[in-house]
Amino acid sequence: MKLLITGASGLLGINLAMESMGKHEVIGVDRGTLKSAPFQVIQADLMHGSVIDSVIDSTRPDWLINCAALASLEKCEEDPVQARNLNTDLPGELAVACAKRNVRFVHISTDAVFDGTKQGFYTEEDATSPPGRYSETKLNGERVVRESNPQAVIARVNFYGWSLGGRRSLAEFFINGLSEQKRVHGFTDVIFCPMLVNHTARLLLEMLQQQLSGLYHVVGAQPMSKYQFGVEVARSFGLDETLISPQSVERSNLIARRSHNLWLSTHKLSTALGHEIPTFSTGLGEFYTQFKQGYPQKIRSYQQDPQPSE
Ligand SMILES: NC(=O)c1ccc[n+]([C@@H]2O[C@H](COP(=O)([O-])OP(=O)(O)OC[C@H]3O[C@@H](n4cnc5c(N)ncnc54)[C@H](OP(=O)(O)O)[C@@H]3O)[C@@H](O)[C@H]2O)c1
Repeated sequence: MKLLITGASGLLGINLAMESMGKHEVIGVDRGTLKSAPFQVIQADLMHGSVIDSVIDSTRPDWLINCAALASLEKCEEDPVQARNLNTDLPGELAVACAKRNVRFVHISTDAVFDGTKQGFYTEEDATSPPGRYSETKLNGERVVRESNPQAVIARVNFYGWSLGGRRSLAEFFINGLSEQKRVHGFTDVIFCPMLVNHTARLLLEMLQQQLSGLYHVVGAQPMSKYQFGVEVARSFGLDETLISPQSVERSNLIARRSHNLWLSTHKLSTALGHEIPTFSTGLGEFYTQFKQGYPQKIRSYQQDPQPSE
């Protein structure tokens, strides 16, 4: 299949491209962050006028997975217009363009559409209640995609992995800090379901292959606090877990509000695919193996050198 990936320089985009490469023809859309990537790259700013139509018409993909977003909760609070452009309007335009051309479309949403006040897990049937600009614009993105392209897959995700700049994921935050013997905080009152990004990528490809459509939770199978996640990462990498201080998110100086409980059920997905979601320890084990095999350096070598300042 020919797969077009928007946001190919992002944490999900680059790992999805790497996972798909051997099996599919991959074309990544990038704004100039990538260099010598091992897959075809076309440069485009998707916020520019008719770029979407021309990118799709010139590449003629079978599948399009939209990994482009304003994914920083803090930046979304600072720049709500950009948040709406990237998280709501862009997915809507991509969904329309794909529906017109019969291109299978996957839109990446977020676990953060819930306010986290429920006891227990959230299913795809549960009412959403976005707590901030990021989650509100992402939820609106889901709505416009569903309205204009009912065949689309909408995947609510949460993942960690190795990123182009080496600082994008929560796991990298813990590894970077602890490797330098720095004291870091881990939130004890934010529960989430982290999944190795490569597992997320493989599941998305499998969902396309199996012709699924509609809304799915594509997150890890094991809920844990961000503190607990840090401890698990530290143990796996032989780093000093006592440098992680347990802290309440309410005492942090983050601007964007975080939901306390983002435990999402993956029952719908595992039933549709006919197998279990990979366990947390399988993902963490693979993450460590990637580290030992030099995968982080390989990923980082695809990053364009920063332009010298004048
Ligand atoms: N990380 C998580 O755990 C997590 C959790 C929940 C949901 N998600 C969702 O997962 C998806 C991927 O997230 P991520 O963490 O991989 O994000 P990311 O690392 O911040 O990547 C975002 C991507 O979007 C691209 N982009 C931004 N503006 C663009 C534009 N105008 N034209 C073309 N490309 C543009 C960026 O390109 P540049 O390099 O040029 O800026 C980058 O490649 C997002 O939808 C996010 O909301 C992520």
